[in-house]
Amino acid sequence: MPEFDSLIQAAQSARENAHAPFSNFKVGAALRANSGRVFGGCNVENATYGLTVCAERVAIFKAISEGERKFDAIAVVTDTDTLTPPCGACRQLIWEFCGDVPVIMSNLKGKVEVLQMSQLFPKPFDSSNL
Ligand code: THU
Repeated sequence: MPEFDSLIQAAQSARENAHAPFSNFKVGAALRANSGRVFGGCNVENATYGLTVCAERVAIFKAISEGERKFDAIAVVTDTDTLTPPCGACRQLIWEFCGDVPVIMSNLKGKVEVLQMSQLFPKPFDSSNL
């Protein structure tokens, strides 16, 4: 999937900054805005455990705080044979901020799988329910 190669590479680079001393599970994400800008994110853990923020949400918050509002893809990279899909909380926010984008899951060995958000999150709660 050559169109996603650079996004996967950005997620891999972001993963190198993961702060995961409690789980030792390092995650990198990269979110591409329609403007072309790419925002990396890594998981950031802390001693409470519960205040941990996932890589995907770090990437989303970075992009939103930089003024971006439209996105066309997000990549998630871990060092696992089974590729890592976004957790439930992240699915909610990816859906709200990005809509039905492709989620590119990859590992350090080059395995890649792409699923649309509508497949990962088929019955969302969002502003249309309010
Ligand atoms: N994590 C992510 O950053 N993204 C995911 O998609 C799954 C889980 C993080 C949270 C925590 O730091 C560690 O992985 C283990 O759950």
